[in-house]
Amino acid sequence: MAIIVITGASSGIGLELTRQLSTQGNHIYAICRQATDELKATNASIIDGIDLTEEQSYESIQKALENVSIDVLINNAGILFNESLSNMNFEQIETQMTINAIAPMKVTMALLNHLSSGSKILMTTSRMGSIEDNTSGGYYGYRASKTALNSFTKSLAIDLKNKGISVGLVHPGFVQTKMTGFNGDITVEQSANGYIKLINQLNLDNSGGFWHVNGEVLPW
Ligand SMILES: NC(=O)c1ccc[n+]([C@@H]2O[C@H](COP(=O)([O-])OP(=O)(O)OC[C@H]3O[C@@H](n4cnc5c(N)ncnc54)[C@H](OP(=O)(O)O)[C@@H]3O)[C@@H](O)[C@H]2O)c1
Repeated sequence: MAIIVITGASSGIGLELTRQLSTQGNHIYAICRQATDELKATNASIIDGIDLTEEQSYESIQKALENVSIDVLINNAGILFNESLSNMNFEQIETQMTINAIAPMKVTMALLNHLSSGSKILMTTSRMGSIEDNTSGGYYGYRASKTALNSFTKSLAIDLKNKGISVGLVHPGFVQTKMTGFNGDITVEQSANGYIKLINQLNLDNSGGFWHVNGEVLPW
């Protein structure tokens, strides 16, 4: 049994990771703004009232997990807006930076003392954060926030190696969730299934990698 902390556990990929990982016998701490009925139906310990745009949330997370040793931390919460040249919105861009890039770092820093040799950190990123893979433009804030997350994560992987902590970036696929208007190519079940395989495969030798949930290595 592993102790696993997941953000964005109220819906979508985070909820399905919570479901599958707790069914496999792990103890999940599910972080969310507001617990949904689906989340309440799992065996997870729910830490609700956590809005990642609010400073006090990080203290609340620390308090809720005070004496907990964490095996796996999954920074999964995220938000997507679309900006284009004809519809630019810097406030939206800042919000995406805050939730998609800064918040995963803040959660990680808040919980770093709870992680030790053998622990793993996963970041739910997006291939839309790949600069090389960007052939269609737009999505200024979402793309840049995930690129920033990828960059933060690479440094974390290098800096945490001597502590024995491995760190990975997972693109979950184009998944049928609230974020995509339920229009994805794959279901949350398929995505979480691949995600869990990647968690199991993550180690200090491949730490710092950027993977598609199907196992493919993605370009930066
Ligand atoms: N779906 C895809 O095709 C796709 C593709 C690439 C990457 N991703 C990434 O996958 C992750 C999960 O997204 P999803 O597809 O599962 O969408 P989702 O169902 O919309 O889930 C997003 C989660 O993030 C939480 N969240 C958003 N803003 C928050 C805030 N300020 N404070 C705390 N929690 C907040 C949401 O909580 P509430 O329920 O309270 O809003 C929700 O639990 C995201 O990082 C997303 O960027 C998704």
